[in-house]
Amino acid sequence: MTSTVATASTNFFLAAAENRCSCYTLTNSSPISDARIRDIVVSAVKHSPSAFNVQSTRAVVLVKQDHQKLWDFGDAALKKAMPEQAYAGLAAKVQGFRAAYGTVLWFEDQSGLDALKQKNAALQHVIPQWSSHSSGMAQLVVWTALELEGLGCNLQHYNFMSEFREKVRNEWNIPETWALHSQLVFGAPLDGLKRSRERTYLPLEDRVKMFGRD
Ligand SMILES: Cc1cc2nc3c(=O)[nH]c(=O)nc-3n(C[C@H](O)[C@H](O)[C@H](O)COP(=O)(O)O)c2cc1C
Repeated sequence: MTSTVATASTNFFLAAAENRCSCYTLTNSSPISDARIRDIVVSAVKHSPSAFNVQSTRAVVLVKQDHQKLWDFGDAALKKAMPEQAYAGLAAKVQGFRAAYGTVLWFEDQSGLDALKQKNAALQHVIPQWSSHSSGMAQLVVWTALELEGLGCNLQHYNFMSEFREKVRNEWNIPETWALHSQLVFGAPLDGLKRSRERTYLPLEDRVKMFGRD
């Protein structure tokens, strides 16, 4: 690759990262086929890195009626887990997720991670962190790629509720060793792809340091 092409590719990549956003006003349609959505998730799962190449990340893509069922589970679990007033404040949010087109469920398969822990006793305590890192890397690739294709996304964590985790496991026959980490909701944006909540930025000189530079 010539350096001009490399710079253009890097700038495109960084612009895609910059444009990724949390969009909550989603519809139940998609500008791309289900096959294309699956290809994007497969590619991200295949190519995202993992500690010792353990490849613990798993994804389940739900669209249309299966996606709606997921958020019916989310609503029912929330209703039981939350005080009435808190549920009243959250119910409309869940209906917003349900109104979207699909959700990618992100799991980490504990079987490979447990084997890794056994092989590397001194590293046992960091392996859960590394598992979360890998999952996050794959999630970010899918989030960014789906948005490049014209879908809006937002990231949820309803897995804090055991009823939700159990219903997901039973409904989609999820192996016992897969631990649910997050839910990436997606759909064609209602009124263009844009951030639903304005984002603020802390001063970057406090966040990024560099030493030994030219
Ligand atoms: C690890 C992680 C957990 C998050 N959890 C949630 C969540 O549970 N619900 C939600 O609506 N957004 C969640 N978000 C989205 C963040 O709130 C959002 O990315 C952040 O406010 C920046 O906004 P942006 O995505 O528009 O750039 C999460 C993001 C990350 C990286």
